Amino acid sequence: MNLETQYLGSPLPHPLIVGSSSLTNDLDMVRQLEDEGAAALVLRALHEEEITGEQMDEFFQLENHGESSAEAGSYLPESELALGPDEYLEHLRRVKQAVNVPVIASLCGTSTCGWVSYARLLEQAGADAVELDLYHSASDVLTSAAEVEAQMLEVVREVKHGIKIPVAAKLSPLFTAFANFASRLDAVGVDGLVLFTRFHKVDIDVVELEVLRSLQLSDSSELQLRLRAAAALAGRVNASLAIGGGVHTALDVIKATMAGASVTQLVSAILKNGPRYLRTLRSELAEWMATYEWSSLGEMRGNMSFQRIPNPAAYERATYRMFH
Ligand SMILES: Cc1cc2nc3c(=O)[nH]c(=O)nc-3n(C[C@H](O)[C@H](O)[C@H](O)COP(=O)(O)O)c2cc1C
Repeated sequence: MNLETQYLGSPLPHPLIVGSSSLTNDLDMVRQLEDEGAAALVLRALHEEEITGEQMDEFFQLENHGESSAEAGSYLPESELALGPDEYLEHLRRVKQAVNVPVIASLCGTSTCGWVSYARLLEQAGADAVELDLYHSASDVLTSAAEVEAQMLEVVREVKHGIKIPVAAKLSPLFTAFANFASRLDAVGVDGLVLFTRFHKVDIDVVELEVLRSLQLSDSSELQLRLRAAAALAGRVNASLAIGGGVHTALDVIKATMAGASVTQLVSAILKNGPRYLRTLRSELAEWMATYEWSSLGEMRGNMSFQRIPNPAAYERATYRMFH
């Protein structure tokens, strides 16, 4: 059974990659994920809001970042873990030494300040690719969608020009004209599009008058939005497509592939079931394909995309007309 695929310039034996999360904070876990067959690993994102401009400035004034924090603690529990720029690079180097699979570093932010030079350091530290998480809370009443998008495009363009390794953009599902924005990213040369970021849940404690934030694990229902987005882009952009969010079963991987994804990024499924689940998923994938007489994922990739089905409007209408 041929499960091979290609993502961000690397040929991969299958499409199951570990999405950006705390899973890759620990080197033993990183090795275990590789042993269980992860095709690639995305590191936790270095967040712009965790790194103040001042810290970034200081960082760039240091002469030799490479050697300065060999003993930096990279294994703190997630709540405490806010890796600074130096520690992040060190962690990346250690992960690269620990495994042979491609390692994708991740940056979260939308300002150009510092990120281009930093992406270059990630490249030097051995990252096989960089994933830019283009998160923007969109809560500023003075900033228009056009301005936000222009800034995001600028970040991607600058980073693309600044480094040789491939660059992926991880998008939120909240763009008004999502396919148009994705194609503009494609036009500035982005190598991969990751569909989509998942948000923290926000709730209000009405007695204590507090805003509560939590990060809940997903389930397969989150896949729907991503299938539609991948199906809209498949064959229309050069960038390879990754679906991340709601991939839990072998059937989810099949659906993602049919929509047009080259890879699927998993986090919640691995947190729920352990790294061994990667192995299970892979064999269930091969089993399903054998049952339904598919010999490769390549032959089904995008076969359910807008371009390839007779009635793409079936994807388009998201509201309830059919019941009226
Ligand atoms: C515990 C946890 C930690 C995460 N940490 C990050 C992170 O540091 N950076 C990031 O870009 N995404 C992070 N994510 C989001 C995932 O990369 C990804 O978008 C999504 O969770 C993948 O979908 P899934 O959880 O349905 O597999 C995290 C998700 C979880 C559940």
